[in-house]
Amino acid sequence: MFEKLTALPPDPILSLMGLFRQDTRSNKVDLGVGVYKDEQGNTPIMAAVHAAETRLLTEETTKTYIGMAGSALFNERIAELLLGNDHPAIKDKRIVTAQTPGGCGALRMVAEFLHQCAPGSTVWVSDPTWGNHIPLLSSAGLQLKTYPYYDGVKKEIRFDAMMSALEQAAKGDIVLLHGCCHNPSGADLDKDQWHAVTELMLRKGLLPFIDIAYQGLGDGLDEDAYGVRYVAAHVPEMVVAGSCSKNFGLYRERVGYLVVLSASAEQAVNAGSQVMTTIRAHYSMPPSHGAAIVETILSSVDLKKQWLDELNVMNQRINGLRRELNLALQQQGVDQDFSFIERQKGMFSFLGINKKQILRLREEFAIYMVDSSRVNVAGLASGNIEYVASSIAAVIR
Ligand code: LMR
Repeated sequence: MFEKLTALPPDPILSLMGLFRQDTRSNKVDLGVGVYKDEQGNTPIMAAVHAAETRLLTEETTKTYIGMAGSALFNERIAELLLGNDHPAIKDKRIVTAQTPGGCGALRMVAEFLHQCAPGSTVWVSDPTWGNHIPLLSSAGLQLKTYPYYDGVKKEIRFDAMMSALEQAAKGDIVLLHGCCHNPSGADLDKDQWHAVTELMLRKGLLPFIDIAYQGLGDGLDEDAYGVRYVAAHVPEMVVAGSCSKNFGLYRERVGYLVVLSASAEQAVNAGSQVMTTIRAHYSMPPSHGAAIVETILSSVDLKKQWLDELNVMNQRINGLRRELNLALQQQGVDQDFSFIERQKGMFSFLGINKKQILRLREEFAIYMVDSSRVNVAGLASGNIEYVASSIAAVIR
């Protein structure tokens, strides 16, 4: 059965992790996969996570099945974190939340659910978007179209072109938006743009699908949720896929969630039963441990404060690194303007350099980034920023 199989190309982001680990040079710098790193280049377990795990070790009483939706308390807390405690969608019982295995699990279950609702529907994704969106959504049977999003020359959002493309969408089409910290460009919609795109989706009967994998890594938890909260307050229906990989540093525990917003509480019950059946048919139920950590933190005043403080250190460090990289490049006397790095949000920005330059950085300077020139700013540190800036300057001269 397997003799005709050929090997498929490696995943462009995850394969970089392997290459980086194999590199024995002591000055190597990992700007590849979207993982937060501290000043020492480590991805430590957050102190609040560690404290919650310690509590769980003594307080957890069972390992019995958790159920298709995962933990009810996790779902309640995470919906509040996403939408805010007093959001009308929560008060009106119009949402269904399910804990999922990571943000990918959420994206895939939402895609399967949408395909069940309207087989073969079209989902519009930003050009560019996160590479794994394409297989996650299309493997569920959805058709993909792209809307222009990022102008690699002007280093800004092509908002007019985006809106013109979405004007071509048909009633019932789905629009995938990044809630914050756009992956891969770091270019986020501003408030007015969220308002305009919401008006367009409402007017044309399009379904908003928001992927929010980096809440809290941009400007802060509430600031980063502006778009998702605004859309949820104005549309009858929407879907959200979220992740706790980054903001809780729980990458390998696979903690994510999906939210389905329906037009009424009655419809939410029906939508929920469809979602649970979808989950049952795929992985039956999510793993418990990571979500138990999140739920423990979000249910405890002291742990939540500790976690928020740690998260704020992370986003301030990322924003500081953005400023430092731009400054360090200026100090190298490069002709190009890199000030866009300071304006963009979250872990990622495109450097805007070509494949040959990217390869030179990897081979000659041991600096790793995705072939698109996407860099993970969180991989920088004061100890390597000069080196990175001088190496970039060397390859672009
Ligand atoms: C990334 O974009 O680097 C992360 O979301 C990790 C991944 O799975 O691609």
